[in-house]
Amino acid sequence: MVSTEFWQEAAQAIYWYRKPEIVLDSSRAPFNRWFPDGVTNACYNALDFHVERGRGEQTALIYDSPVTATKRQYTYTQLLAEVAHFAGALAARGVVTGDRVLIYMPMVPEAAIAMLACARIGAIHSVVFGGFASNELAQRIDDATPLVIVAASCGVEPSRLVAYKPLLDHAIELARHKPEHCIILQRPMLIAEMIEGRDMDWLQVMDRARPVACVPVNANDPLYILYTSGTTGQPKGVVRDTGGSIVALKWSMKAVYNVSAGDVYWAASDVGWVVGHSYIVYGPLFAGCTTLMYEGKPVGTPDPGAYWRVIEEYKVCVLFTAPTAFRAIKKEDPQGHYLAKYDLQHFRALFLAGERCDPHTLGWAQDKLQVPVIDHWWQTETGWPVCSNCLGIEELPIVAGSPARAVPGYEVRVLGKDGATVAAGDIGALVLDTPLPPGTFITLWDAPERFVEAYFTRFPGYYETGDAGYIDENGYVFVMSRTDDVINVAGHRLSTGAIEEVLFGDKDVAECAVIGIADPIKGQIPLGLLVLNSGVTAPPEVIVARTIKLVRDSIGPVAAFKLCTIVERLPKTRSGKLLRGTLRKIADGERWKMPATIDDPVVLDEVAVALKKMGYPAD
Ligand code: COA
Ligand code: AMP
Repeated sequence: MVSTEFWQEAAQAIYWYRKPEIVLDSSRAPFNRWFPDGVTNACYNALDFHVERGRGEQTALIYDSPVTATKRQYTYTQLLAEVAHFAGALAARGVVTGDRVLIYMPMVPEAAIAMLACARIGAIHSVVFGGFASNELAQRIDDATPLVIVAASCGVEPSRLVAYKPLLDHAIELARHKPEHCIILQRPMLIAEMIEGRDMDWLQVMDRARPVACVPVNANDPLYILYTSGTTGQPKGVVRDTGGSIVALKWSMKAVYNVSAGDVYWAASDVGWVVGHSYIVYGPLFAGCTTLMYEGKPVGTPDPGAYWRVIEEYKVCVLFTAPTAFRAIKKEDPQGHYLAKYDLQHFRALFLAGERCDPHTLGWAQDKLQVPVIDHWWQTETGWPVCSNCLGIEELPIVAGSPARAVPGYEVRVLGKDGATVAAGDIGALVLDTPLPPGTFITLWDAPERFVEAYFTRFPGYYETGDAGYIDENGYVFVMSRTDDVINVAGHRLSTGAIEEVLFGDKDVAECAVIGIADPIKGQIPLGLLVLNSGVTAPPEVIVARTIKLVRDSIGPVAAFKLCTIVERLPKTRSGKLLRGTLRKIADGERWKMPATIDDPVVLDEVAVALKKMGYPAD
């Protein structure tokens, strides 16, 4: 663990209206507070800071959208002007420091502009990923109670337009809380119907807006809320504060990614995820880099050379994405023929996170790209990497399957069920020493008890990551799986409990189980097993199709819930616990043993037959 002096030093690199004299207040642990008496502003540090220091003409943001055939660039001066105007538009609608603004937008520059505009006036943004449907959106509206919602009329997926506005309208109908205003970015490919008195057009609002200056905020004032899957249906609203985020993210840009002002840095993710918050919007701009917003996929927009085209065209130095993207590219272009068409001379490193990087994908990327391929491990809660090979400090040997060692600021341990540290190489719960460093979450929105209970109770004195793994003799950390019901689908974190909750909502479903099974591209995908009420007469295929649609309509397409079957019974232990682990092993074709605690072994055999009929395990 590094000292508080270390962070005091790092804090010198950012702009403060009032410099903090206290580095850390841990008097109310685990509600620790970094730089509690500092006053700053995230938007100032992202934009004004650079313009005032002569970086105004440098490109701040590149928008590249193969799905709409659009390319656009903003200099720091231009981005600042847009953000100051939109901040003025929000302020004109009564938004002040501490108010929440919900943003439901695809990968368009206006999403980043809205986020930075909130930061400019001290409002707390809550971005909701576009792949979530109305129910999920409604839950977040009720939890964050936003005064204003900023949305786009549609998202553009390669195969279809996603009409966001009807999803938003329905979510507002479902929610108990009603926002006062909705500002809608009308995209030309799908113009949304507006609700008189509530909805306003982004362009008109911008036309009438007057730019506003940054509002100084306390370092511990929330910068944003970002919801993530918890162990049960109710999402957790991770709250990040302002001062710590600026200090940690700015520091990490150089220390972890080894990029400096002027470099082009590309995180191919989505603004709706933590990667998007930390490394599409805030981190690169705090560091004076050029950031890239890419509205497309790694394959099919138009081909598996898409990433290489972007890297060449904009002289990208560092790319950060999820291993799933590379598995998709590798599948379509195993020999790297598309790669050979592009000049990647400026490209220095690839960073992967979001899910475990399988050694095969790592090896392929290393072989084809001939640059360091860095697996690094972090979570929505931490906001920036916990373990990484820190290219800006010292490049460590790369060990496949490991995100290397703890980044300065973190101390990782592996604890057994009894809470004692296990021996090197033994698997256990991955925990972090407290206090967590600056830039990590400070609480859960409106749920401080859940913050303590979910993360700091099982292993007193430590932060429980929810991941299991081990540390080898060289201090390399290996993250193997989750200890809860969270699964990782194409780098997206999903709760199987949340999907089960939706399935229970079907009138014919008596019992259900959702497990995450291995998928060659997405890493994991959910598979549902349904037990029906007695006397149900509807054909199985009708019920299966209906429940799949139910999940898509409730949670959204992001759940990728496409596999479901009906079984007579679910395999359980004698105490009634579902045998999830054994089911997963059977589906994945791994070796498994009949659990000693099983209630009725015949049930497991029946389910194994049902899984085989679905093609799991594959022959
Ligand atoms: N708005 C609306 N729908 C969206 C969406 C958005 N912003 N993003 C995804 N979806 C939809 C997709 O269209 C898809 O719907 P479908 O079932 O009708 O096909 C579904 O949600 C699942 O999307 P996705 O997980 O992106 O899967 P995919 O099959 O479309 O693409 C990959 C697979 C691997 C190409 C894709 O996951 C990818 O590009 N990953 C890159 C890494 C990444 O973004 N990681 C995020 C964390 S770092
Ligand atoms: P999210 O909060 O959506 O970013 O998801 C965080 C979870 O993704 C972690 O708790 C891990 O389970 C998983 N994860 C992220 N990065 C890695 C990695 N490099 N290796 C293994 N698992 C990872």
